[in-house]
Amino acid sequence: MPSETLDLAVIIGSVRQGRFGPVVANWFTERAESHGAFKVDLIDLADTPLPLELPPLPPRLEPNMARPAEMAELTRRIDAADAIVVVTPEYNRSFPASLKAAIDWHYTEWEAKPIGFVGYSGGSGGILAVEQLRQVFGELLAHTVRDYVSFPRYYQLFDADGRLIAPEGPEGSAKAMLDELQWWGSVLRDARRDRPYHQAG
Ligand SMILES: Cc1cc2nc3c(=O)[nH]c(=O)nc-3n(C[C@H](O)[C@H](O)[C@H](O)COP(=O)(O)O)c2cc1C
Repeated sequence: MPSETLDLAVIIGSVRQGRFGPVVANWFTERAESHGAFKVDLIDLADTPLPLELPPLPPRLEPNMARPAEMAELTRRIDAADAIVVVTPEYNRSFPASLKAAIDWHYTEWEAKPIGFVGYSGGSGGILAVEQLRQVFGELLAHTVRDYVSFPRYYQLFDADGRLIAPEGPEGSAKAMLDELQWWGSVLRDARRDRPYHQAG
């Protein structure tokens, strides 16, 4: 791998039985791997217990919060990422609680990193969930990129083998988002090395 290769974490946000998330995430992972700038780590939140009972102190007071031992690997993988893509469905006009729990259990791991989104759902294509995630990640000092991928009525777009019936449009959206993540990912990785953000002025 060339030294400029960026570590990209792709997070599957839904954890329910029978979910569609992995189909979308596998499609996107293929796009990210063929882009050329990234080494991809596909993170499935279903692999990690995500308790709703958070630590007693807010993260601003205790950024290095104590976490359940089973969460260590998830934390390490988010921390190692130079860029992140969240694959999210829409539940009641928002994103799944599993995703909120994973976000809230971390803090500095998101900081000064670019974040992109792949949404899917019924008519809205996950866009309402994505817009809410932008607000949340703003609080965590992450940078959400403009371009995104959206699959409205995803069930009409993928075939039984998980392949897109008409891939050109989504592939173009994925490329635009990955290009942005490459630029921001590279710039922010160098900046974090030179001057860790939480220690800045
Ligand atoms: C609790 C729940 C709420 C949902 N609310 C919405 C919604 O507000 N808008 C929408 O377009 N689809 C909604 N859906 C449909 C989901 O987007 C669709 O079922 C999708 O497959 C969920 O992702 P998953 O299969 O990865 O869990 C909802 C589904 C669930 C389970």
